[in-house]
Amino acid sequence: MQMLALYSIKGGVGKTASAVNLAAEAARDGRRVLLWDLDPQAATTFYLRSKPKVRGGVDKLVKGKSDLDRAIRGTDVERLDLLPAALGSRDLEAALETRKPSRLRKVLKPVMDSYDLVVLDCPPSLSALAEQIFSSVDALLVPVVPTTLSLRTLEQLDAHLDALDHACPIWPFVTLADRRKTLHRQVLESLGERWPKRLSTTVPNASAVERMGLERAPVGHFARSSPGGRAYAALWREIAQRLQ
Ligand SMILES: Nc1ncnc2c1ncn2[C@@H]1O[C@H](COP(=O)(O)OP(=O)(O)OP(=O)(O)O)[C@@H](O)[C@H]1O
Ligand SMILES: [Mg+2]
Repeated sequence: MQMLALYSIKGGVGKTASAVNLAAEAARDGRRVLLWDLDPQAATTFYLRSKPKVRGGVDKLVKGKSDLDRAIRGTDVERLDLLPAALGSRDLEAALETRKPSRLRKVLKPVMDSYDLVVLDCPPSLSALAEQIFSSVDALLVPVVPTTLSLRTLEQLDAHLDALDHACPIWPFVTLADRRKTLHRQVLESLGERWPKRLSTTVPNASAVERMGLERAPVGHFARSSPGGRAYAALWREIAQRLQ
């Protein structure tokens, strides 16, 4: 079971859109995928037409006593299951606080054989939960909006991970890009030079991605051949190659 997180210290950069679309692409590709909504805002849960509630409660989940199968739900996407956000996901934070690193991965142990890939949609913070994420996943997929500030937060994240004992690789990729803008082009170039591990697929600023909230579905399900739909399909192919 491989594990990836959509993570950034910065809010509103496309973590949730990317988590839902990449998980759906992976499922389409034949993988059995579990998408875990770790953000109390529950946007991923909403996009997949579910309600934020963890049966049995997150506290039990972390202790390993809860029936994980009951908390996980199916979605309209074949081979894609969802572990929804708990409205009180702050409880998750508290429950994980005192736990050893990689507890998050251990929580999933009972269903390890049922999934090929777990995708985490993370809230934008450097908290106890973030530390758990860093020590549990195979890589952090970090959406970068093409601005100077966004590059700066990427450096901050890198410095933070450098100081940790259990850290994972960072694979940045550009989202919300507008190729007509000179600044965007420049940021893309410097990202390429500074971050050899970056994913080369760029997700454009695309109206189809914005429409996910109305359609409540991954972009591949209602606008597969749109620029946004094609970008996420290509991004997943690139990630799948790396995971091999
Ligand atoms: N490629 C895109 N093109 C156009 N709009 C996008 C794109 N990606 C995301 N958006 C829009 O930008 C907003 C923020 O996206 P999203 O919720 O995915 O970011 P986030 O990083 O998960 O935010 P948060 O930190 O609040 O969890 C949303 O309104 C979403 O519809
Ligand atoms: Mg989000």
